[in-house]
Amino acid sequence: MPRKCAFANAAILLFLLVTTFYLLLPFLSSFDFSGERQVESFDFKATTVEEACLRSNVHSIDPIPRVVHVIWLNNTDLNFMSYLTIRSALIAIQPDRVNLHYTDINEQNEWFMRVRDNLTLVPHDLETEYGQQIRDKWQIPHIADLLRLDVIAKEGGIYLDMDVIALQSFDSLLGCEKDLMLGNEGGDRHGLCNAVIVGRRGSSFIKHWRESYDNFATNEWNYHSVILPKEMSSLYHEEICTVSPSVFYWPTWTKKHIRYMHKPITQSEAQEFQDTVVANGGGMYPDQLAYHAWSQVASTYLKDLSLKKVVSHNTRFNVLVRRFID
Ligand SMILES: *[C@@H]1O[C@H](CO)[C@@H](O)[C@H](O)[C@H]1NC(C)=O
Ligand SMILES: *[C@@H]1O[C@H](CO)[C@@H](O)[C@H](O)[C@H]1NC(C)=O
Repeated sequence: MPRKCAFANAAILLFLLVTTFYLLLPFLSSFDFSGERQVESFDFKATTVEEACLRSNVHSIDPIPRVVHVIWLNNTDLNFMSYLTIRSALIAIQPDRVNLHYTDINEQNEWFMRVRDNLTLVPHDLETEYGQQIRDKWQIPHIADLLRLDVIAKEGGIYLDMDVIALQSFDSLLGCEKDLMLGNEGGDRHGLCNAVIVGRRGSSFIKHWRESYDNFATNEWNYHSVILPKEMSSLYHEEICTVSPSVFYWPTWTKKHIRYMHKPITQSEAQEFQDTVVANGGGMYPDQLAYHAWSQVASTYLKDLSLKKVVSHNTRFNVLVRRFID
């Protein structure tokens, strides 16, 4: 029966093809040059260490001050995103002070005027403080990486990058027995990002970290700001507390995650999202204290943001930040 046989052969061939395809699938899908898939895979479970870190509020006699620090260097004009960062810090964290570390500021700028009364201005002179780095041709973002460490080492408090939205009170972190707290970046926990730093004055971890910048090559920026602190965290584990990726840095900077935050959603999706955020006390997830907007990667979306659009267009980002607009 040649016809039947041919049919059987075709069926076997098809079976083999399908099986091979499925066997290869894991390898095909990990064929991902940027590593975005590993960064995105996360089970939303904090490790025991992370869990303990988040609940380690021991009513320390020397709490981390409820002072927020933000940095704005070599740029006279605050923008809408920095306004959102400052407003969210004021409302969600209820700090004793928000210190704006700056070099030069346009006091007539619209966003500055809206938050002026709630800021403590801390002027810096980069030539005096970071003359060596400037002579070594460091760029402003790299100097800002150092300044945040110096500010926390000197005063303690909560440092926020000007694209971080604070979502809930940070009070549960301020009694931490270790002197520094950082958040894991990525579901694969590949790094400890420096966009949010919660620390006590004199933190010894910061001292080690600061020293690493002594032999800083400007092409190693991401290494010194994200990967190195992760490596150092196992070496100096008694000096640092690390929290789960969802506390400060979820969703991540991958294309898919950025789109998730900024693509248009329907009225009913917006309502559902809003209900979840309210149920979580301000976060998209129960333990989320902040959202990092990854301004470098998300600039196509962020540059088009405006106060009007946040109010009138439904995206997850807009719904999340709406309550911070005055
Ligand atoms: C600060 O900005 C000015 C002009 O915007 C630029 O010429 C200067 O090089 C910048 N300073 C540093 C240290 O990058
Ligand atoms: C900002 O400061 C003003 C004047 O002191 C005060 O009335 C207001 O409550 C403050 N706003 C926030 C959000 O803290």
